[in-house]
Amino acid sequence: MSEKSILEKFNAKFPGKPRVFAAPGRVNLIGEHTDYNDGFVFPMALDRYTFVAIAATNDRKLTVFSVNMDETMKIDLDNNTEKRSHWSDYVSGMAFVLEEKGYRIPGADILLESDVPVGSGLSSSAALEMSSGLAFLGIMNQTMPKADLALLGQRAENKFVGMNCGIMDQFISMHGRKDHALFLDCRSLDYQLVPLPSDNVRIVICNTMVKHELGSSEYNKRRAECEKGVEIMSKDFPGIKALRDVSLDQFESVESQLPDVVRRRCRHVISEDDRTLASIEALQSNDLVCFGKLMNASHDSLRDDYQVSCKELDTMVDIARTIPGVLGARMTGGGFGGCTVNLVNAMQVENFCMTISSRYFQVTGLEPKIYVSVPSDGGHEIGV
Ligand code: GLA
Repeated sequence: MSEKSILEKFNAKFPGKPRVFAAPGRVNLIGEHTDYNDGFVFPMALDRYTFVAIAATNDRKLTVFSVNMDETMKIDLDNNTEKRSHWSDYVSGMAFVLEEKGYRIPGADILLESDVPVGSGLSSSAALEMSSGLAFLGIMNQTMPKADLALLGQRAENKFVGMNCGIMDQFISMHGRKDHALFLDCRSLDYQLVPLPSDNVRIVICNTMVKHELGSSEYNKRRAECEKGVEIMSKDFPGIKALRDVSLDQFESVESQLPDVVRRRCRHVISEDDRTLASIEALQSNDLVCFGKLMNASHDSLRDDYQVSCKELDTMVDIARTIPGVLGARMTGGGFGGCTVNLVNAMQVENFCMTISSRYFQVTGLEPKIYVSVPSDGGHEIGV
């Protein structure tokens, strides 16, 4: 996708000269279901973007054409309070939260095009939120710190779309940096860009091509279970605000007081925070074997304790772990379908891609999509 082709497509639909903004999807390397527990995550921005071409109008209407959906939606900014359970909710949600903050969007013609796979756990929704947020700010000649726009995106998703997501996806979509992954403390929002070695390993994403419907209801349920754990453990550890505040030793000293399901959810989150911290150390000392083992342990904990994996994700991971050159394999994102992320020796990537495709197809009858990805830059305006 090029700026030129986006401009041409815009001009075929709308008058005016647009500005073009882009924001990427993400893959999370480790630190899953920790963000809404004030914990640690380690995602990278993908080399796949959602592009928004936008030209201001002054009629308080958004006319939004999606190239991917081949569909136009009209949004009346004076009557934009309810989601429609439609792809355009992420655009209208961003308009909603910006206007709630006091911004007044004049109206706009918008063309969207994305190569972030939709519904695959690679944050196509955050990419759409961040690119449209940047676009709205752009036509109002406004700017805002990246973290603030990420928080607004999270708010759009929580309050408008009804998904109680954490901050990871929007944050990395804004702060991603070429050749780096991003270590984020989801409480303070302090972050560190960590270089990813590119000479000897590759990040390979395998799309299971399934998405199980229970994803968003189960997600909200997991959040509530974590909060329950904090509530119960705060009797022994007064002052804890989130699972982030409980060490593994503390947890083990009181775990027998927790209902079994809550106990397992807490064990995942608390141990995942430790794994994420350990993975940064491993990377900094160039111990990729250790990093891969932590990825494997993360998947096993998500499968057994957090119970957000599914048959297809487990199959993809199990196959990956038998292929030479694979250092680590795990599900990535919210779960219940979507993608796995694999750390693979660069020399063996070609064989990995071929083998995993054919074996996954043999077992499931589904043809997976495989993306060899490089860490890329976060949201920005194109051509400036
Ligand atoms: C989804 C959410 C994120 C995060 C992950 C799980 O992607 O949007 O906030 O909670 O699931 O790590």
